[in-house]
Amino acid sequence: MKRQTKLHRTIGILTAGGDCPGLNAAIRAVAKSAMHYDITVVGFLDGFRGLVENRFVTLDDRMVSGILTVGGTILGSSRDKPHKMDMGGTVMDMTKVAIANARRMHLDCLVCLGGNGTMKNASRLIQQNGLNVITLPKTIDNDVAMTDTCFGFDTAKSIATEAIDRLHTTATSHHRIIALELMGHSAGWLALGAGIAGGADVILIPEIPYDIRTIAEFLRIRRQSGKRFSIIAVAEGATAVGGKGEDGGGASGGKKAGRKKAERSEEAERPGTEAHQEPLMIQEPMVNRIVRELQLLTGVEARMTQLGHVQRGGTPTATDRLLCTRLGAMAGELIAARHYNVMVGVKGDTCVPVPLAKVAGIVRTVPAEHPWIQAARMVGTCMGDRL
Ligand code: F6P
Repeated sequence: MKRQTKLHRTIGILTAGGDCPGLNAAIRAVAKSAMHYDITVVGFLDGFRGLVENRFVTLDDRMVSGILTVGGTILGSSRDKPHKMDMGGTVMDMTKVAIANARRMHLDCLVCLGGNGTMKNASRLIQQNGLNVITLPKTIDNDVAMTDTCFGFDTAKSIATEAIDRLHTTATSHHRIIALELMGHSAGWLALGAGIAGGADVILIPEIPYDIRTIAEFLRIRRQSGKRFSIIAVAEGATAVGGKGEDGGGASGGKKAGRKKAERSEEAERPGTEAHQEPLMIQEPMVNRIVRELQLLTGVEARMTQLGHVQRGGTPTATDRLLCTRLGAMAGELIAARHYNVMVGVKGDTCVPVPLAKVAGIVRTVPAEHPWIQAARMVGTCMGDRL
């Protein structure tokens, strides 16, 4: 790292939460634009944990070259929160340590690339009178507030759409019902977007509780009209009318159950923790039950597919590469102007700074009257609530 002088400036970057395609493109854009202003850039490893444990690399031009198209994140990621961090089996508030480490490095600003959890963690670092922060909205769930879109979403939507295309051909050959479970946490953007783009016959999202008998009736009418296969796109957070599946949750046991599962599996990876010694409880995905019930109600053979982390892997689309470059370049401009404590959001054709206080803690779900829902209904897609 360059020697600090009064004039010389240093920023840090970290990637936190679930990874997604485009993170490297965004790291590259932030770093290159900061370097353009002769600002030194360091990258913390494995999200906020790297900041707490003082693990970082200097990101020079060579380090960020050739990564535009590469999936994942060269910095690594984690769901660790500074205020509740597992330190060798004991959960501790490491906020002060994170802030002290950043201060010792004379960081002007910490750029955090992440989704809703990251927005909250980053804003806590500001509130504790600690750091200047800038965030970029990253998540395949597309559920960050105050931005039209998040990077990673377009790539995941394309992967999910291709999966639906492929399921179409096999469902047609065997005259089957096939349900595809897609990620999205408690928002339906991914299932809705890919469902429409892939021409799914039924789309189930958390924002619209479904009635299994309505879906069965829709499929029966569809079959009577000569269409002998059906594709159902199911968001992982989708729930039946009345709110509860057998285990009280959504397609994968509900968002809370899903998060608990993720937290437990992170703990289980760490030797020495209790969870490491216990076998993980794997819940039956509710998409299984949807398929089972539909097979019973319609008498048509049904199958299910869970796309899982395939949705988060691989190279970003051109749209995401472009978006990441624009968001990162805008972050560079804001850093140069010392305009801090904002998220760089997308508004129409422009990237705009939005106060982080207006973003943190808010999940942007699909509004009931959203044009995508209206378009889906207009082309005859069943949203699970009515025929
Ligand atoms: O938030 C991104 C996301 O991929 C969600 O869609 C999904 O519910 C979750 O992360 C999965 O988390 P993990 O990779 O920790 O299992």
